[in-house]
Amino acid sequence: MTMREEIEQAAARYPDQRSAIMPALLIAQKEHGHLPGPVLEEVADILGVERIWVYELATFYTLFHTEPVGMFHLQLCDNVSCMLCGCENLLTHLEDVLGVKKGGTTTDGLFTLSTVECLGACEMAPAMQVGDDYHGDLDIARVDALLDRLRATVRQATGADLTAAGSPGE
Ligand code: FES
Repeated sequence: MTMREEIEQAAARYPDQRSAIMPALLIAQKEHGHLPGPVLEEVADILGVERIWVYELATFYTLFHTEPVGMFHLQLCDNVSCMLCGCENLLTHLEDVLGVKKGGTTTDGLFTLSTVECLGACEMAPAMQVGDDYHGDLDIARVDALLDRLRATVRQATGADLTAAGSPGE
């Protein structure tokens, strides 16, 4: 099924096509990895809605990416509960070990590091979303273990030597 067909099928469930923008964007992002301008315009055209409505949603919600992101998008919550539980230290640590600042992507394309508003997982603050998975009660050791697990999944899939973030083979 093409992206257009998938979007049309999803949109058929909504009496107002404006309500279908969110599911349509999810479909488009799954197809393209991120949502550059031409893709947003294509989504708007498929739904027959104003392009600005699509741009507004795509740039408001952190689950949508208008720029390319790494294979693993680390979305660290920096809202109140997580801030009180030390997310700032985790951000500094992640920036150090990955060699990128917030908003950056490692040179090997593995990790993009972002901060986001409340993930709705305050009970396990500090929390971070990676792809569809939530990770909570984080501390530096757990963050390091998580990065190791993520690298291991790539290593198993590709055989690549990923001993250092951002520098395969270092
Ligand atoms: Fe971080 Fe709610 S404040 S998950």
